[in-house]
Order: sequence, then structure tokens, then C-alpha cells
Amino acid sequence: MYIIKSIKPSFIDDSNNHRHHLQLLAIMKSKLQQLPFATSGVVFLALALLAFVCLVIYPKEFQLQSLVSACRSSPSASLSSAVHLIDPVTVKPDFRLLLGVLTRPDLYERRHLLRLVYSLQQTPDLTAQVDVRFVFCGLTKEENRVLVALEIMRYDDIIILNCTENMNEGKTYTYFSSLPRLFDDSPYDFVVKADDDIYFRLPKLIESLNRMPREDLYYGFVIPCDSMDPFYKYMSGMGYLLSWDLVEWVATSEFAKNNTVGAEDMMTGMWLTAGKKGKNRYNTKYAMYDYPIPVPIDACSHEFVPDTIAVHRLKDNLKWARTLKYLNVTQGLKPSKFYHFD
Ligand SMILES: *[C@@H]1O[C@H](CO)[C@@H](O)[C@H](O)[C@H]1NC(C)=O
Ligand SMILES: *[C@@H]1O[C@H](CO)[C@@H](O)[C@H](O)[C@H]1NC(C)=O
Ligand SMILES: *[C@@H]1O[C@H](CO)[C@@H](O)[C@H](O)[C@H]1NC(C)=O
Repeated sequence: MYIIKSIKPSFIDDSNNHRHHLQLLAIMKSKLQQLPFATSGVVFLALALLAFVCLVIYPKEFQLQSLVSACRSSPSASLSSAVHLIDPVTVKPDFRLLLGVLTRPDLYERRHLLRLVYSLQQTPDLTAQVDVRFVFCGLTKEENRVLVALEIMRYDDIIILNCTENMNEGKTYTYFSSLPRLFDDSPYDFVVKADDDIYFRLPKLIESLNRMPREDLYYGFVIPCDSMDPFYKYMSGMGYLLSWDLVEWVATSEFAKNNTVGAEDMMTGMWLTAGKKGKNRYNTKYAMYDYPIPVPIDACSHEFVPDTIAVHRLKDNLKWARTLKYLNVTQGLKPSKFYHFD
């Protein structure tokens, strides 16, 4: 069971309604505080009142799910008893996705940026659960053993595999094949293997995955650059996705285990093709692409487009900045006397 936080009806954005809603809740709260006794009757009354308020404000959305999320999402709804009683009602997210960024321990600054850009996308209206994790092989440097430990204490978003750091000598195999054991109590629906120089727009990725089968799915950017045929070769290592059944299959496939060394994305494609897996293949072109440096240099890159799912080859901060600017990521910055950008 999962907490609802992921499902936010669009009306929350309506600031008038929202203010009205807050006022009503404040009135309710003061009324409740005036009551001399705190019995279960009061709790029931509070619940009934809360339900009524939600029904009045959000008649169109009067379903349990939106009722609960609407009333939960108000920061001032500190009607602790009522909220507490509502808490256990949970709604499944559409799906659960593990976004594993294969990177190296030394790249602290990149992880900082990736944490920023992905945590800013974890808004209540995401309808799927997306867990971003940084994936390394074993730490070998004295400083990393301490500094990465600090990061884990603070963020708890790092997976340290049992391997020696490498790119094309089996790290991806170790990654996929470790997951069924690591998440045997809470398997994901989808697993992404991502580079650390790609930016995914989570809402667009989720929207696209909602139309995909949940099984036997191999999804990504088709290689070679000028091909549109997902069955011809394989998906680019920039960021491709396997459904959980395929991850489980990789973990048990002797063929995969025997063939771990080589361009990692090509190897993944080879395992699936050899095992007659990935019957559902989906090519994300042209919504995924390489950053145009400074103009498109090959058929894998093109200019920015509004429907972008992901931009790859973001090798430095300027490329990140231009991408994030085009995609309006900083548009929501609130004005303040404390800073200016001119
Ligand atoms: C590494 O190996 C140990 C011992 O086999 C195991 O307990 C642990 O879960 C492994 N770690 C990962 C991330 O797979
Ligand atoms: C994997 O390698 C082992 C040892 O070389 C071999 O006996 C086995 O047939 C191979 N399996 C596959 C499926 O390639
Ligand atoms: C960014 O915002 C501008 C102005 O509101 C809009 O015209 C444009 O379509 C947005 N771009 C994207 C990628 O959403």
C-alpha cells in the first residue's frame, strides 16, 4: 500500500478555491477547539464536517480519492484527529519506477544537481512513484568512504553494488541482476538505467509509460541514430527502461551472465534479443535526444522540442542550464527582495 501524495487533482492550483478552502478549515478548527469534550463523537463530527466542506468546495471531484488528497494537501489542515483518521486510506500510484543513475562516487557536484532537478519534480501531481538512486561499484578511496556515507545518512538514495568501478565491464549487468534480490519485498514495475548526463522530465516520462504495457517492455532511444526501428539493434545507454519481469529474467539468464563485457547498452539489447525477450519495444525518438552542441551534430541530436521526455549529453553546467531554461524549470521561482538575476 502506498500513500497518496502522488495524486493531486488539478483544482488545487485554483488559488481562490484554495484560499476559500483554507478559511473554511480554519473556521472548522476554531469551532472544534471550542467544544468542551474530546470524544469519538467529536472526531466523527469533524470527519463529517470535513467531508461536507470538501463536497461543497469540490462537488465535481467528489470521489474518495480526491476528497482525501484535497483535504490532506492543505498545510494548515492541522485538524489532527480528522487527518489522522484519514491517513490510512491509500491509493496506489499508477506504477513504481526505479530510476538508477549509473555514476561514479567522485561526482558529488553532478549528484547534487541531479538531486535538485529530480526532487523539484516530485510534486504532488506526479501519478507514479519515481525513486531516483545513484548506483556505484564499491568505494575505493578513503575520502569517498566518509563523504558518501554522509550523503547516504542525509539522502539515502545510493546503491553500492558489489563490483569494481567500470562502464563497459559488467556494471550494468551487476545493476540489473542485483535488483530482484535487493527489492524482493517491494519490486518495481519499471527500471531505468540512466547515465549521469541525462535529464528526464518525469511527468512526460510517466505520461508516456502510462500508455505502455507493463511486461516484456524494452523502451528507449533506438540506436543507430538514424534508425526508428526498435527491433533492429538496441536502446541507447543514455537512459533505457526494462519492465520488472525483464529485470528478473536478466538476473537468471545464463546468457546474460556469460556476456557482460562490451558496450553496456549493446549488451543489454543482445541479451534480450538472444532470449527472445522485449517483444514490446518502444522508440522514444524524437522526445529523447542528444543536446545540440551548439547545433545538431548528428542524427542523435536536434534542437529542443516542447514535448521533450529527456535530453542527453549534458556534460557541463552550461548545457544543463540551457536545457533547464528552455524547459521552463526555473519559471516558478518566486520574486523576493533577497535575490535578483539581472
Ligand atoms: C553485496 O554482497 C553482499 C554479500 O553477498 C550482499 O549481502 C549485499 O546485498 C550485496 N550488495 C548489493 C548492493 O548487491
Ligand atoms: C555460459 O558459459 C558456460 C561456461 O563457459 C557454458 O558452459 C554455458 O553453456 C554458457 N551458457 C550460455 C547460455 O551461453
Ligand atoms: C515555457 O514557457 C513559455 C512562456 O510561458 C511557453 O510559451 C513555452 O511553451 C514553455 N515551454 C515549454 C517547453 O513548456
